[in-house]
Amino acid sequence: FRTLDTLAPQGQKILLRADLNVPVRDGIISDLTRIERLAPTIKELADKGGRVIVVSHFDRPKGKPVPEMSLAPISEALARILGKKVTFVPDCIGPAAQDAVAAMKDGDVLVLENTRFYPGEEKNDPEMARALASLADIYVNDAFSAAHRAHASTEGVAHHLPSFAGRLMEMELGALEAALENPERPVGAIVGGAKVSTKLDLLNNMLEKVDMLAVGGAMANTFLAAQGFSVGKSLREEEMLDTARAIMAKAEGRGCDLVLPVDVVIASDFMAGAPTEIVPVSEIPDGWMALDIGPETVALLTEKLRKLKTLVWNGPLGVFEMPPFDTGTNAVAQEAARLTKAGKLRTVAGGGDTVSALRHAHVLHDMSYVSTAGGAFLEWLEGKVLPGIVMLGETAHDVAPL
Ligand code: 3PG
Repeated sequence: FRTLDTLAPQGQKILLRADLNVPVRDGIISDLTRIERLAPTIKELADKGGRVIVVSHFDRPKGKPVPEMSLAPISEALARILGKKVTFVPDCIGPAAQDAVAAMKDGDVLVLENTRFYPGEEKNDPEMARALASLADIYVNDAFSAAHRAHASTEGVAHHLPSFAGRLMEMELGALEAALENPERPVGAIVGGAKVSTKLDLLNNMLEKVDMLAVGGAMANTFLAAQGFSVGKSLREEEMLDTARAIMAKAEGRGCDLVLPVDVVIASDFMAGAPTEIVPVSEIPDGWMALDIGPETVALLTEKLRKLKTLVWNGPLGVFEMPPFDTGTNAVAQEAARLTKAGKLRTVAGGGDTVSALRHAHVLHDMSYVSTAGGAFLEWLEGKVLPGIVMLGETAHDVAPL
């Protein structure tokens, strides 16, 4: 795909699809990572004389203007991070946007209002795509984390303008490529989370790519139940037992080492401060639930990690939000971080709760790469072709490592 290396921004109007969908609590942005990672692309384009028109969705306003979902406050945060004036325009298409673009000078930065204020965005309405495209000469997509959505601003617009990948997009694709498409082996994956049903495609695809697959979180309970263990009142999906068995059989057939917990931390109630015990997975009593992996499983996993060269991590291994059930996730994450810092392991993490879990374990910055994407990271791990990337030239799976 085409990167900014092949783009001459001087004097060009550049429609930059960013992902400004940042977490906001009580009106305050609680995590600026996405904005910080986007800043180099904007700086590069503006410093080279481009006129940068930033578009993004924010939250899910369902095709109507919702004042609390305006990008206005987020554009202020962007201006602070860039150390540069950013003009906010309260519409993303139509006369207000057109006038603001017409008044731009080389090096200026605009942020347009939330694209999802129009129903045409999520419908990928060709009219909406054309209206966005008509604002600019060039399209740069830097929103890997929204690339799994075929929306007007992520996919449709690229049919009308020469399209390029921004620096963050390039970095995300390079890191994922190096981890899964062309990894240094042995390569392993840690997949945690609550449900097998939501990670079925992911597990099946991972099995084909990795040498070791460790399953944790409540998902592991479903596998344990499928093996015939009684899991008490642990969260699990009874309807997925056959599926879990099929996954185990597939792993065996492919020579993929599928690692499940051998011991667990159990509690009688799902609450902080509830009494806990550590038991082998064969001894989970009725009325108790598994909420974390136990110390023997931690030892087993850390030993497996030491044999790997590459690790992909998605999802926590226990209820990390509620200590002491963060112990297992913390310990394994800290070992992954130690090995990574020592240059022995390349660790790529991302998706959903993973970033919070690694931050909670104080190792977020010790991984080789942490993706800012949630759903897009998962779809990538599922082996899907992401519509926002297809339009940048070739499919992402053909991208060469950085
Ligand atoms: C994300 O936060 O994962 C992306 O911004 C996509 O948001 P969405 O799930 O609302 O499409």
